[in-house]
Parts: sequence; C-alpha cells; structure tokens
Amino acid sequence: MAFSPSLFSALSLAFSFFSSSILANAQNAGTSTSSSGAKYGSLSPSSPVDVGLNVFGADEGYTIDITLGGQNFTVILDTGSTDLWVDASGLNLHPTNVTDLNVDFSYAVGEVEGNIAFADLQIGPYFVPNQAYVNASKVSDMPPGVRGIIGMAFDTTSIFVELLQSWGKDSAIKLGRGPMTNLLAQDPSTPGFFDLRLGRQSINGSEEDGHLFIGQHLTGRAAVTNAPKIPRVDFNHWTLLMDGMKINGQPYTGFGKSVKESVPEGKTATVLDSGFTYSQLPVPVIDAIYSSIPGAVLYNGTVPGIDNQPTNTTWIVPCNASANISFAFGGQDYPVHPRDVIRHWTGFELQKAEGVSILANTTICTNRFFAAPPISPDYDMLLGMVFLRNVYASFQYGDYTPPGVNSTGQLPYVQMLSVIDPNTAWTEFEAFATHTLATGPPALDPPSLVKFLTAYNANQTHSDSTSTSTPGATGNLAVSGAASDNTSDSGSGTNYKAIAIGLLGANLAVALAVLGVTLVMCVRGGKARREARYQPLRLPKSAPGVLDDAESGARYGD
Ligand SMILES: *[C@@H]1O[C@H](CO)[C@@H](O)[C@H](O)[C@H]1NC(C)=O
Ligand SMILES: *[C@@H]1O[C@H](CO)[C@@H](O)[C@H](O)[C@H]1NC(C)=O
Ligand SMILES: *[C@@H]1O[C@H](CO)[C@@H](O)[C@H](O)[C@H]1NC(C)=O
Ligand SMILES: *[C@@H]1O[C@H](CO)[C@@H](O)[C@H](O)[C@H]1NC(C)=O
Ligand SMILES: *[C@@H]1O[C@H](CO)[C@@H](O)[C@H](O)[C@H]1NC(C)=O
Repeated sequence: MAFSPSLFSALSLAFSFFSSSILANAQNAGTSTSSSGAKYGSLSPSSPVDVGLNVFGADEGYTIDITLGGQNFTVILDTGSTDLWVDASGLNLHPTNVTDLNVDFSYAVGEVEGNIAFADLQIGPYFVPNQAYVNASKVSDMPPGVRGIIGMAFDTTSIFVELLQSWGKDSAIKLGRGPMTNLLAQDPSTPGFFDLRLGRQSINGSEEDGHLFIGQHLTGRAAVTNAPKIPRVDFNHWTLLMDGMKINGQPYTGFGKSVKESVPEGKTATVLDSGFTYSQLPVPVIDAIYSSIPGAVLYNGTVPGIDNQPTNTTWIVPCNASANISFAFGGQDYPVHPRDVIRHWTGFELQKAEGVSILANTTICTNRFFAAPPISPDYDMLLGMVFLRNVYASFQYGDYTPPGVNSTGQLPYVQMLSVIDPNTAWTEFEAFATHTLATGPPALDPPSLVKFLTAYNANQTHSDSTSTSTPGATGNLAVSGAASDNTSDSGSGTNYKAIAIGLLGANLAVALAVLGVTLVMCVRGGKARREARYQPLRLPKSAPGVLDDAESGARYGD
C-alpha cells in the first residue's frame, strides 16, 4: 500500500450543485474539438487491457490512475457520480482550455470547489481529448495520495448542468459529458460498457486490488454476458430494481413500497455505488440483519471513530459471528461474504479528554451495512463496496444518449456474476475472525462495550464541547482523545474512514430540467429530507424549462 495512515472524513452521498458565477463572455471559452492530434484509444484492442484498480485502507476505497493534461493522478472510481475533478495543486497540468464557470460540490463533510476546465484525458490505453473536469481549488478530506474522483455514471451532474445553464444545451452535450460517456461516444458502433471487480483484503492483511476493464471482459469472466440484464430505472444513477433479499436463507419481506413512484410493488430501487465504502439500507432491514446475530446489541449514540450516520445507531456484534445475506436481481441471488457484513476494529479505545482511559486497546465489531431513513425520492437503498466486492459487474450503457438527445434504443443495464461461494465464504469468515481474535487485542463482548460507551458519552456531554456532532463526521477520530488513532480494521495498521460519494443534488436538478417537472414537488421532497448528514437541497433558480422537451421526458421518465 502506497498510502500512509491518516484520517479522512466521510464524504457523504450528498449532492453537488452549481454555485455558479455565470459569465456571459465565458460562452466561447470551450473548445469542441481537440487539436492535440493524439490518437483515440480503440475500445476493443485485441486482448483485454486491465486498467487496474488499487485499493486503499482496509477495503476502504478503490482508485485508478489517470493522466490528465500530462499529469498523473490517482482518483477514486465512483459509479455513484459522473464528474471528473482533480486537485492539481503543485502540478503543471496543461489544460486545453479553462473557463470562469465555478462549481461547488457540497459533501456533508468538506467540499470541492473549482472552475470547469478541459484537458486531454488518458485512462489506461484509452484517450479522451478535451475532457471537461473541475480544477479543484478547494478540497477537503481526501485520503493521502488521492487527488480526485472519476465518476462512472451518466451526464446529470455538475459540469453538464453548469454548461447547460451557462452555455446552452448544445454546448453541454458537446463539451460537458463525463469521462466514460465521452469515451464510449467515440465508437458508437461498439457496445459501451465497463466491468468492475473489487478486490478483498486477505486474512493476513494483504490486499487484492481488483480490475477495471473498458469495453472488454476479464479473461474467464465472459460468462457475464449470459447473466440477467438488469435495467437501469433512473437516469441519474446505476439504479436497479432489486427483487428481494434473504437473511440466513429466509426471505426478508419488510421492504414495503418503494419511495420511487414508478417502482412496482415488491421491488426496491437500488443504486450501485462503488464510491461508498459501506451500504445504506432502510432502518428495518438493518435491524432484521443484525438482530439475527446472537448476542448483537443496538447502541443508540456515538461510537467514536465509527461513522454511523445518519441514524447515529450502531449494531455491536460479537466478533466471532456474522450473518448470511443475499440480494436478488434479475431473478438471481447474489450472496454477500459474511466478512462484508461485520467489521472488526482492532485497537479500539476510549479516553476522556484529560487522557484518562475508560477503555484500553480492544477489538470490537460493528455493522458494515448502515441504516438510513429515506433520503432521496429516487432510490430506496444504496449498495456500496461491501456488496460490489461480491460480484463481477458489467455496467452496460446500451444506446445511452445524454439528456436532451432522444434515443429509443436499449437503456443502460447491469449484468452481474456472483463471485462468492457461500460455504467457502463462511469458512473464510471463521478463519478470519479466529485469526483476528488470536492476533489482535482482546475482544470485548457487546454488552460491556455498551456500558463503556454509555459512560464515555455521558462524560463527553459534560466535559467535551468539541465532540463530533457534525453530521457525517462521527468517524473523525480527531475528537479530543476520543479514541486511539491506532484504531484499525483487523490489524492493517491503517485507519481510513469510509467514503461515500455520489453527487445527487445536481442530478435531481437536471432531472427536473429534463423532465420539466414543477419545482413545487421537488421543494417538498427536498424539505422532507433535510435530515442528518444530507444537506438541504438548494435549487437552481432557472432549472425548469432549460431542457424540457417532451421527448426527453418520455425517454427518461422511467
Ligand atoms: C479555448 O477556446 C477558445 C474558443 O474556442 C479558443 O479560441 C482558444 O484557443 C482555446 N484555448 C486553448 C488553450 O485551446
Ligand atoms: C506518469 O506515469 C507514467 C507511468 O508510471 C510515467 O511513465 C510518467 O513519467 C508519469 N508522468 C508524470 C508527469 O509524472
Ligand atoms: C462466540 O464466542 C462466544 C464466547 O466465547 C460463544 O459463547 C459463542 O458461542 C461464539 N459464537 C459463535 C458463533 O461461535
Ligand atoms: C451461513 O451459511 C453457511 C454456508 O451455507 C453455513 O455453514 C452457516 O452456518 C450459515 N450461518 C448462519 C449464521 O446461518
Ligand atoms: C494493542 O494490543 C495489541 C495486541 O494485543 C498490540 O500489538 C498493540 O500494540 C496494542 N496497541 C496499543 C496502542 O497499545
């Protein structure tokens, strides 16, 4: 691992939008063609090319290396958003053009701000001339060595929306598309897709990084083409309909009606988000999963070092136990490795501000699937890395066109192969738990931990006004003496916080623009969801009507 131990805070699955300084004379600043003369990478080289994924922390996040404007960057690979942004401070990046258009991605913790610019982009052997990106001038809380995010979804986020509003629809379509849709548009005759295989930390802490293929399948995984085609049901994200879920072999029936209006009874709108370390499911589902584990206890309150927002509840689990869960898509079950269900934290301790130890160096275990109240009208739950590690996933763009360009062809869809054998996985989990408990500090049983936490939090209320009440920031161990900085996941010696990326707000805004939906509906939806880590939705003043043609409405109204 090239990354040194450090803290970074949870970037919430929040939203970006445009705090724009729209300058009339910026209209002509974009270039529509590249004069660089560089060759386009073929989307179908003769043998598969692995772009390669690197993992950081203990399965905390996955990055790729790109070259933008002649400089190398390590960026987080995020299927939950679309924009490319980099922090190029101190580097001599050569843009093909720069604009005065300023965008501001607001995360729950921290923010990214900068101007839209254009530069030639290279991803492995693939070349995209004049890719729009945000030249971030203000960034907070990225993992060490990571200098940006590459979004792998659809053209509904900040850059596209900003160009749409400032320069109009034609410019947005020509200049403002995301890296993947831009790349795939170079060769419309070839099916556009990328395949993801996220690696997993081994028992002894070494990492298997993972794979990213564009327009090709990993050798040995071509069978993914025979997997069920699971259609995308919302134009903002890789949102799929989940058929159902099992907990320890029993169907779970508590999902209820989807928050998304068009979703049929019995189905659940689910976003696949490779930029989110954990997952977010409705509260009752989380309770059903973790209450199935004998000895697990629900703790209502802050657990220092553990990001349990937005509900601020944590399931504390015996460290030798887990659950078998699986999610069904396209009529097929996709089991989750029991290691992805719970998380081992070694080196956990609790100290008062004065340095008095309440709890010394222990091992504790908590939930890796998080509870969240409904936070968006567009989806019910979000499956992040803890799900995606269990599948080989092919993200197919079909006959995708950007907003405003009518298409009657195949909508985007996902195909997935399970890479988990439940029996082997359970054996591996037992071996992992045994190893961690044998080599790490002693494990604490859940009721005792609750006692210590109660004492700690009572103490904290009176003596420590700096405690983390910032939504989304409870994972920040920089609380005065709250917990040891050595807290780590199963002996890896590193301490990374979860990341959760997915720029939703602008998506919603452009959705409105595309669909011509009235503002009133949205404002209501936005207000109702001003919860916890999610910041209130601020709406653009002139969004509706910018792009409301009836055909797009029909096209995207799924
Ligand atoms: C930026 O775009 C403008 C207008 O298209 C063009 O005149 C200018 O040469 C471009 N700058 C660069 C560095 O390509
Ligand atoms: C970028 O990385 C490549 C491959 O490691 C290397 O050959 C090249 O010199 C690097 N470029 C810069 C500007 O650091
Ligand atoms: C976990 O350990 C506890 C305490 O040693 C024991 O009572 C329990 O049966 C174990 N559970 C499993 C699933 O092995
Ligand atoms: C999980 O599944 C494995 C393999 O089928 C089985 O051996 C194990 O007992 C199951 N665990 C629970 C908690 O049901
Ligand atoms: C915690 O305990 C483990 C093993 O018992 C030990 O290796 C480690 O150094 C301890 N950490 C601290 C901060 O005391």
